[in-house]
Amino acid sequence: MKIIKTIESYDLYRSSLKTQSLGFVATMGALHLGHISLVEQSLKNNQTTVVSIFINATQFDCINDLNNYPSALDNDLKLLKQAGVNAVFLPVYDGIYPDDYVFQIQENRLSKKLCGAYRDGHFDGVLTVVMKLLNIIKPTNAYFGEKDFQQLTLIKQMVSAFFINTVIVGCPIIREADGLAMSSRNLRLNKLQRQQAVLLYQTISSHKNIKQMRKKLTEIGFDVDYIEVMNDRLLVAAYLDEIRLIDNIEYKNMKEISA
Ligand code: PAF
Repeated sequence: MKIIKTIESYDLYRSSLKTQSLGFVATMGALHLGHISLVEQSLKNNQTTVVSIFINATQFDCINDLNNYPSALDNDLKLLKQAGVNAVFLPVYDGIYPDDYVFQIQENRLSKKLCGAYRDGHFDGVLTVVMKLLNIIKPTNAYFGEKDFQQLTLIKQMVSAFFINTVIVGCPIIREADGLAMSSRNLRLNKLQRQQAVLLYQTISSHKNIKQMRKKLTEIGFDVDYIEVMNDRLLVAAYLDEIRLIDNIEYKNMKEISA
């Protein structure tokens, strides 16, 4: 597995590839089985798979959240090597942002709702870094998890709006045995918070009424940002102390939901 730290070295690697199809998984590290499921999809459908690990400071609206974001590079590299990844791209801030984030990608509709309404500038940071990574990596296919459903939707829309020659593939949420959606942030949960966290999924799966869901989650100890329906999904974001968790479920029978 090649470790590549600069765009110049990546360009050399990319032009040396004889492969027709390159799959890409963008991550911020602290990898779990959710990330590995994206990697496996990529390995299955492409001759070469590249993974990036870059904690993207521009998408954090809160400095504490950035400072507390888990990092586990040695373990990440071990997992990616075991999985059979061909190359890992490990850029630094100055490599990705030579302009110091003067140029940004902004979407002015969906990115202002749901998570965007609570995390100022979050999706500007996400879309900008994803645009840069797609331009650098030049993948045929790029894999993103449905856990970040709003992010996935915005990335698909951006790729279409800017005629980027990459197929964006959404992959299903991977859950722990008890139903908690896998997330790097779960590493920050203490024992009690971990027990509370699983009730997020259980509550949105078992209640039909958004008001009841909100009431139940508040009783459990969540500070709920939103519970809202988008397309055929019910999306939720809620805090346990300072740890923000998100989840979503498919909602086939939308008529049963009432605000
Ligand atoms: O989903 C994530 O981990 C990040 O938002 C991403 C897509 C890697 C961009 O930094």
